[in-house]
Amino acid sequence: MQSYEKLLVNNKEWSKEQQKADPEYFKRLENQQTPEFLWIGCSDSRVPPNQITKTQPGQIFIHRNIANLVVNTDQNLLSVLQYAVEVLKVKHIIVCGHYGCGGVKAAMGNQSLGIIDNWLKEIKDIYRMNKSEVDSITDEKERFNKMVEVNVREQVINLAKTSIIQHAWKNGHKPYLHGWVYGLADGIIKPVCELNSDSEIDSLYRYENL
Ligand code: CO
Repeated sequence: MQSYEKLLVNNKEWSKEQQKADPEYFKRLENQQTPEFLWIGCSDSRVPPNQITKTQPGQIFIHRNIANLVVNTDQNLLSVLQYAVEVLKVKHIIVCGHYGCGGVKAAMGNQSLGIIDNWLKEIKDIYRMNKSEVDSITDEKERFNKMVEVNVREQVINLAKTSIIQHAWKNGHKPYLHGWVYGLADGIIKPVCELNSDSEIDSLYRYENL
């Protein structure tokens, strides 16, 4: 059996198990999704959102990219964000990075990896702007961990800079923004920052006419 065929076999088994445990399972999910959370995470295969939070299909709306970036010109991310906030009306938006992130590591180094250099440039900019905070740590691994946390923090701030979030904050629906970092070594998520509609954001980024 080819490796991909095993996935299809697994899928049939899973479907059978679900129906056995809960005969209404698929009928319920087929009708609607009402997730309370939007998850913006790294594409890394070792950080599966539902598994590490013990949640089920239907509970988390998910967007993943390399190094969990919120790039304000990314149509994919912006579409997911708008749909999650304005249609699904999620209560919480979680940006979840992880220690040992290859994207962050690459961005801190000087090797070209091809087209991804352009994506990772976002993290290089964050490193440059937070250089004294990050480089004050002498231990290499600790410095890398710090940069993972700083990256998550900046992505949460990037969310707050969007008109989508600011509009929601001003108009009754007030999603909470959370920055988390997952540990590959122990499977534990560490919360690193939080923003909500009461948080101050730099006036330069504030839209007054939303
Ligand atoms: Co990663």
